[in-house]
Amino acid sequence: MLKINIISILITFDTVQQTLFRLNIAYKSGKHLMYKSVTDDSQDNLFILQTIASLKDQPGALLPILHEIQQLVNYIPETAIPLIADALNLSRADVHGVVSFYHHFRQTKPGEYVIQLCRAESCQSMGASILEQHARQTLGIDYHQTTDDGLFSLEPVYCLGNCACSPSIRIADEIYSDMNTQKFDKLLNSILSKQKRGKAYE
Ligand code: FES
Repeated sequence: MLKINIISILITFDTVQQTLFRLNIAYKSGKHLMYKSVTDDSQDNLFILQTIASLKDQPGALLPILHEIQQLVNYIPETAIPLIADALNLSRADVHGVVSFYHHFRQTKPGEYVIQLCRAESCQSMGASILEQHARQTLGIDYHQTTDDGLFSLEPVYCLGNCACSPSIRIADEIYSDMNTQKFDKLLNSILSKQKRGKAYE
C-alpha cells in the first residue's frame, strides 16, 4: 500500500514541480524569505497549519506541503506528520515514507545557520574535499549534524549552479564562491561575532 502511494506521488511529480516553481517565485519575491530558522515552536505550528490549509486541496498536495513547511520552519517536525496525514487522508506511514525517501527533507531541527558544502564534480576538482575536511574539523560535526550550541549544521549538496566559481558553499540563501579554508574561517568568525554583537544588545 505504501509502495502504491509513493509511486502515485512520484507520478504526479511533474505537476508538483510546476507548483514548486510558482512557490519559488513567491519566495524569491521576498514573501517568505528567511535568513535564519524559526525557533519559536508555536509560530512553527501556526505556519504548518496555515500551509496545510492553503495547499491541501490541490492535486498531489503532499510534496508542495512538505516543501513549504521546510521552507518556513527549516525542517519537517514530527508533529506535522499526523496533521498532514489527516488533511490528505493518508496514513502517517505514507507521509513518513515520503519524508524519508527524499533526503532533501530534514527530520530534525537544523542549526541556526545551515552550511551546505557542494560535493559535485566541479567543486571536487577545485579542492572541495579539503574544504569539507576543514569544515568538519573546525565545527566538530559531520554531515547532517548540528553543533552543540545549535548554531551550525552541515549538509552536502550536489551543485549550487555556481560551478564557474568552485568550490562553492551556501549559507541560508547566500552562495559563497571560490571558497578555501581561510575564507571559510573568516566567514565563520564573522557569523560568530555577529552573534556576539546580537547577544550584547539583548
Ligand atoms: S559543482 Fe559545485 S557549484 Fe556546481
